[in-house]
Amino acid sequence: MSNKMWGGRFSERPDEIMEEINVSIDVDRHLFAQDIAASKAHAAMLANQGIITASDAKNIGKGLDTILSEIGRGGFEFKRALEDIHMNVESRLSDLIGPAAGRLHTARSRNDQVATDFRLFVRDVIDETDAALAAFQQALVDRALEHAATVMPGFTHLQTAQPVTFGHHLLAYVEMAARDRGRFQDARKRLNESPLGAAALAGTSFPIDRHATAKALGFDRPMANSLDAVSDRDFVLETLSAAAICAVHMSRFAEEIVIWTSPLVGMIRLSDKFTTGSSIMPQKRNPDAAELVRAKTGRVIGALNGLLIVMKGLPLAYQKDMQEDKQGAMEGFAALSLAIRAMTGMVRDLVPDEAKMKAAAGEGYATATDLADWLVRTLKMPFREAHHVTGRIVAKAAEGSVALHELPLKEMQAIEPKITKDVLGVLSVESSVKSRTSFGGTAPKNVTSQAKAWAKRLEKERKLG
Ligand code: ARG
Repeated sequence: MSNKMWGGRFSERPDEIMEEINVSIDVDRHLFAQDIAASKAHAAMLANQGIITASDAKNIGKGLDTILSEIGRGGFEFKRALEDIHMNVESRLSDLIGPAAGRLHTARSRNDQVATDFRLFVRDVIDETDAALAAFQQALVDRALEHAATVMPGFTHLQTAQPVTFGHHLLAYVEMAARDRGRFQDARKRLNESPLGAAALAGTSFPIDRHATAKALGFDRPMANSLDAVSDRDFVLETLSAAAICAVHMSRFAEEIVIWTSPLVGMIRLSDKFTTGSSIMPQKRNPDAAELVRAKTGRVIGALNGLLIVMKGLPLAYQKDMQEDKQGAMEGFAALSLAIRAMTGMVRDLVPDEAKMKAAAGEGYATATDLADWLVRTLKMPFREAHHVTGRIVAKAAEGSVALHELPLKEMQAIEPKITKDVLGVLSVESSVKSRTSFGGTAPKNVTSQAKAWAKRLEKERKLG
């Protein structure tokens, strides 16, 4: 038998390989809720416009509700022979309500249908990702408040550079997550237009009301051009771009956790909940979750690349290539969601080794800049000269294998006679971070006030919900 949804002009059934390459139900079954919502909006509009009868629309609506609950409780048989979610739903609808089911597809096509469904799906993804990122930010802010004055080494080139506070480091990721959320929101704004009613590509001769279906589905307006409506996948690409950048942030943080938990560094300890053991080495505590967050970034970037490549040569309007938009994107979004949640969990229960952090912060003459700044401020020395003098003092300390604050004052004075014992006040890691009060700097009081401001902002968002 030929396909019962489109087989009118066919006398043979498709080859098995044809069916295999064409079928999309394994992926687009995840659009069932969106597909049914869009069909309900379409049927109600058709009745309002007098295109189908009110009683047909009522039966269609009831039938669709039945299907929704059948799928919800796992009592729906998805058939590969019916290709995709649209035809699976419609076929079941015709089992349930008979010929009226055939009226649902008036003035629409699977092309505008799938574009609508996937927009709704991606919109949900954006909203879920936003909530996950807000929870990630909250976890960071909580820990930043707790560790506003905990000193750790700040790095450039992964070399100890200047002391910073752990709270300040955590707040850096709050800023990144804020930009990520902004990118998702930007994508959402452009995404939120309805393709439904564009039909196959050219619009329809039926007197439909696209504004009504757009409104019913929470879209801001219908898309203005029917060719664009069925063939645009920018909304997936934009959301995947935001997702890829966000995944990169998660990955960078995950990499830091991997470094920090290495016994060679030992600055933090992950909880048992976010570590695994080794089957052969009983002492091991492996940061697998962080490593997998790092790796999952590949899936997200891969999904973006994959879809850019699918789209790059496609003429208008709908091409079947576009069916390949969903699998990678869905997997990429799921990977990102898991990555954000894993990072949130790790942030919540990681334990910094404060003594080790502080000791590491002082290593490698990390307060040398503070000494140079002191020479500039107190002795009015030009910074370049102060840099040079400090360099000589650091070399002297290194010769005797002592820290800067351990170097006898006399030795410093041998290099620069005007140095007084006052200098000792700026050489500790605590005084170093305390002095960094410039806007955006690492001073504990800055960190506390920034963290508090974030806490307030996040709470306000939750209230507005
Ligand atoms: N399964 C298809 C997709 O995901 C639905 C649209 C099919 N349209 C068509 N004309 N065959 O893109």
